[in-house]
Amino acid sequence: MKVLMINGSPHEKGCTYTALGEIASALHTYGAEYEIVHIGSSVVHGCKACKACASSGKCAYDDDIVNAIIEKAQEADGFVFGSPVHYAAPAGALCAVLDRCFFAGARCFRGKPAAAVVSCRRAGATAALDRLNKYFTINHMPVVSAGYWNMVHGSSPQQVKRDLEGMQVMRALGTNMAWLIKCIKTGEENGLARPEPEDKIWTDFMG
Ligand SMILES: Cc1cc2nc3c(=O)[nH]c(=O)nc-3n(C[C@H](O)[C@H](O)[C@H](O)COP(=O)(O)O)c2cc1C
Repeated sequence: MKVLMINGSPHEKGCTYTALGEIASALHTYGAEYEIVHIGSSVVHGCKACKACASSGKCAYDDDIVNAIIEKAQEADGFVFGSPVHYAAPAGALCAVLDRCFFAGARCFRGKPAAAVVSCRRAGATAALDRLNKYFTINHMPVVSAGYWNMVHGSSPQQVKRDLEGMQVMRALGTNMAWLIKCIKTGEENGLARPEPEDKIWTDFMG
């Protein structure tokens, strides 16, 4: 039972990491392993829509973190994507990474539980969360929730730690994620397979 957590902030140990750490402690308490991968501040490509991934299953750009994340996703049972709020949206580099991870590696994420969490100083959190949740809800992924929307507030890890309500939401999220993964595994062990999606119907509204 392993959860892959992505820290989409340029700061390795900043506010987003502080939120992910609280989720991690709850995952640990409930018997789930986790790995936090930091996308870092190196240059990442945006998707060039070449569609080479349709046959190769990996991104044509092989010089950044995307293909490594796709490989890790294959082994993971659940996901948490964390991002700072930048102009009421997730960090641009994280969106570039996730666009390519999901376009090239959708099969590695499909059907597995996921959650997005965001960190902001003041506002824009719900818009950023909405953007991140879109990756899950286009790919048959159960969205894990808590008792409030998954956000913390602060400009430093110390401030985030003082957001007691936000930190409680993070712990609840970790607990719920571990529980849901256990439920899915227990179901599979007892013959309840994940439903296979139908072959995709593509329409383009052009008649
Ligand atoms: C380019 C940029 C844009 C930002 N835009 C917002 C914003 O729209 N709303 C907000 O509340 N905070 C905004 N912030 C502040 C960060 O979201 C906030 O401090 C966050 O907790 C930092 O997380 P981190 O330490 O993981 O990077 C912005 C910061 C940067 C660098």
